Amino acid sequence: MKPVQRPLHVAIIMDGNGRWATRRGLPRSEGHRRGMTVVRQTIRAALDLGVGYLTLYAFSSENWKRSEKEVAFLMQMCEVMITEELPFLIKNDIRFRHIGRKEELPETLKSAIRRGEDLTKNNRALCVVLAFNYGGRQEMVDAVRRLAGDVKEGCLAPDDIDEKAVAASLYTAGIPDPDLLVRTSGEMRLSNFLLWQICYTELYVTKVFWPDFRKKDFERALKEFRKRTRRFGGAHD
Ligand code: FPP
Repeated sequence: MKPVQRPLHVAIIMDGNGRWATRRGLPRSEGHRRGMTVVRQTIRAALDLGVGYLTLYAFSSENWKRSEKEVAFLMQMCEVMITEELPFLIKNDIRFRHIGRKEELPETLKSAIRRGEDLTKNNRALCVVLAFNYGGRQEMVDAVRRLAGDVKEGCLAPDDIDEKAVAASLYTAGIPDPDLLVRTSGEMRLSNFLLWQICYTELYVTKVFWPDFRKKDFERALKEFRKRTRRFGGAHD
């Protein structure tokens, strides 16, 4: 019998907070607030469903183009979420990691992130990866800069730059590539998310807006994943 295929790493593009709010005559911030509650529920669902890595796209490098008010709100929410979730993460053996450019974030958020990463670094039950001020292209630029620096220092030869060396220079170093990418709210695009890592990831798009995403929607995505045949470029049977 074929073993049940379960994704080790699920990445989610959490989209539709704004539309969810607008349709209810509410400010966009209300959609984000509701979205934050769903983030918490989704971490619990991932733990329960035996997912090993959960990567959540919360703020892209391009999201700075939003109004100053919305950007400030998202920064503040992120800090509140990390701080409030930390006891739960510690209690449940969950590791927290951030991917993205830390240096551009407010000081208080940076220290909340560092504290979260530090206090959970030995946890193993689940790894929650928060993509905040993250962009796939920016990540590649940073990796190239790092590798070029190593070449300049004389500790790396250009011929030694292979896929493994590039992967090890990305923010996601040490994290396996996602098996499943879920996008909510129906848009069919990648929005600069994990461009290197999703090379052979299975894609699943649901029309459900992020604030309405529930454990049953997560389970539906996992059920769909089980039906997929993964060949990684190999031939059909
Ligand atoms: C996409 O909806 C959502 C975001 C850009 C922000 C994601 C944020 C959360 C889920 C809230 C909580 C988490 C943290 C860590 C801050 P959108 O605003 O693009 O929706 P729209 O496409 O309908 O306008």
